[in-house]
Amino acid sequence: MSKLRLGVNIDHVATVRNARGEGYPDPVRAAEIALAVGADGITAHLREDRRHISDADIDRLAVICRQRGRPLNFECAVTPEMESIALAHLPHAACLVPERREEKTTEGGLDVAGGHNAIAPVVRRLSEAGIRVSCFVDADAGQVAASKAVGAQVVELHTGAYCEAVRHRSPEADRLLGALKAAATEAARLGLEVHAGHGIDYETVGAVAAIPELAELNIGHFLIGEAIFIGLGPAIQRMRALMDEARSRAAA
Ligand code: PXP
Repeated sequence: MSKLRLGVNIDHVATVRNARGEGYPDPVRAAEIALAVGADGITAHLREDRRHISDADIDRLAVICRQRGRPLNFECAVTPEMESIALAHLPHAACLVPERREEKTTEGGLDVAGGHNAIAPVVRRLSEAGIRVSCFVDADAGQVAASKAVGAQVVELHTGAYCEAVRHRSPEADRLLGALKAAATEAARLGLEVHAGHGIDYETVGAVAAIPELAELNIGHFLIGEAIFIGLGPAIQRMRALMDEARSRAAA
């Protein structure tokens, strides 16, 4: 089983910064720490309303990721503005996500099946520019197949429903984990690289990391919260260790 990459999402460092309109805490400093302690890449979501990450943050993140030879995964909505920002920065990867202004976070996956005609040309232009394009989708075979059909090279499976079910001790958790496993198997069968993310914490990371088809997890909110108590470096190192343990246990 291949090693599972960890992309650290630093959006919520910017959320804290923006609460006061000051220049600190700086998400770029968080990205530097994350890369120094073993994150494989940095993920940042430039939302249309700029509620956390700003355009200037993306400029600086693109520079430090390039300098350190590490991937920047640019999360964005499928809009002409976001497409042109991606094309201006040429990040390693772009993850296409749905966005609704009133949502607290990315609450569900992108409807790639319903949006084929709008999404396919964007995927083509980003891919032609050398960006690896991923579609953030629910654990659903139809959406996985639609991601393949629009030309994406990667799908990122939305783990939010599973993680929430575990946190609330819901009997649905096993079924939701089964759906993630089935979607990962189907994506790999179609030749897609499979990522996963959203809502992952120390409790849920093991079961997700054990899904053999996964190549990358993207984790943010929990790590930034945990950093308040134990520091960002140790929080990331602990997550990395839990991922590695789960992976070796699953391979044994
Ligand atoms: N992956 C994607 C596509 C996301 O939209 C997010 C949240 O921005 C994450 C991963 C990370 O989720 P969380 O911050 O809940 O760990």
